[in-house]
Amino acid sequence: MSSREQWGSNLGFIIAAIGSAVGLGNIWRFPYMAYENGGGAFLLPYIIGLFVVGVTVLALEFVIGHSTKGSAPLAWKRISGKFEWLGWLSVFTAFVITTYYMAILGWGVAYLYQLLFIGIPADIGGFFFNNILQISSGPADLGTFPILSLVAVVLAWVVTYVIINSGVKKGLERANKIFMPLLFIMTLMLVIRGFTLPGGIDGILLYITPDFSKITNLKIWVDAFCQIFFSLSLGFGIMIAYSSYLPEKTDLTKSSLIVALSNSFYSLIVGFAVFGTLGYMAFEQGVPITEVVQASITLAFVTFPTAISLMPFGREFGILFFLCFVIAGISSALSLMESVTSAIIDKFQINRKKTSFMVTVLGILGSLIFVTQAGLYWLDLVDNFISNVTLPLVGVLEAIAAIWLFKGEKLVEYMDRLSPIKLGALWKVFAGLITPLALLAFLGFQMYSLIT
Ligand code: PHE
Ligand code: NA
Repeated sequence: MSSREQWGSNLGFIIAAIGSAVGLGNIWRFPYMAYENGGGAFLLPYIIGLFVVGVTVLALEFVIGHSTKGSAPLAWKRISGKFEWLGWLSVFTAFVITTYYMAILGWGVAYLYQLLFIGIPADIGGFFFNNILQISSGPADLGTFPILSLVAVVLAWVVTYVIINSGVKKGLERANKIFMPLLFIMTLMLVIRGFTLPGGIDGILLYITPDFSKITNLKIWVDAFCQIFFSLSLGFGIMIAYSSYLPEKTDLTKSSLIVALSNSFYSLIVGFAVFGTLGYMAFEQGVPITEVVQASITLAFVTFPTAISLMPFGREFGILFFLCFVIAGISSALSLMESVTSAIIDKFQINRKKTSFMVTVLGILGSLIFVTQAGLYWLDLVDNFISNVTLPLVGVLEAIAAIWLFKGEKLVEYMDRLSPIKLGALWKVFAGLITPLALLAFLGFQMYSLIT
């Protein structure tokens, strides 16, 4: 189709793909996971996972999108009429994830508003649980809807809508070209601050000091593989859609390496900011650092704000942190929404304006579930199911279908033809054999832990 939209440049595509990959998961999930799984020792399974499943599947999705010029469902349909459903499975997953990703993003927006216009809340836990989540109002009660987060979630949706509505080059590419450099500079400022706060270095040491005794524990490998898959936005049809907008001449091998490495690099350094701040907090409160490290989402919304409330220029520092949070989140939300939007455009030939509007309205309705007090419960459930089961399953199916059932050999040639770095043969061994085996072992382990 000659009318398909295109990126303005290869760089624009790479920046947008990094924008998708670098998200909330890098900021609150990675540092915590690394800490919990043996600190620096986590890097070993993480780096192995980065190549075995990360780069391999990322390259696979790039080749699929670029060679078929279609979003996930259309791409699969063009590979084999029988596999269109696999594309829709990715797209459906993307839609579900968008609804709760936007809710978390909305909480970030709410904090930003609070810090910018009101100040650091006197009672931070109270602010998060009462004003944002309204959990204190008792059992699920739709009568008391958390207004602040509701407005913030709708706002996050509207911003995303406006950008997607403007198209690939004028919307996605332009937004990411502004967001990404900004995010990088602001993150560096947070990192420097993390290193220079009193107690900061202790926090950072806790984060990176390897505890190799954990390496034989299967859980650390599972966590690492899981984190990589989610972190690179794989299995959502995103990277397929993004690469379908590339011009003919492009280097997919190089692009997948750059995107994967940049994403991991970002995770690593943002951890310095997070743990430096936690170290400072422990120092101020005179407690062991291990006591201030919190699992899950409260790390960003309760622990971190508490830390900034203790420091000079805490408010400004907090604004910087939540700006990073929101920018990283929006650039990822954009990619999720683009996966859904492009699939509908390709399938039904409805124009972008109508499609993006429709997706936004449905999406806001979906997000309402996660904004309520019952939201946290649903969020955990959906998040676990999707990252532990759906994504790896899509990954296995993609790899087996593409390499074994259909044009495996052609895809390898295709990839090598476009790049001076000839990794096709090696890639085939990974994508066709090692990656699916690793993911199957992973899925087996998940099933096993489900029944025991
Ligand atoms: N990669 C994003 C992150 O690490 C999460 C994400 C997944 C974003 C899927 C978009 C799609 O936070
Ligand atoms: Na990521």
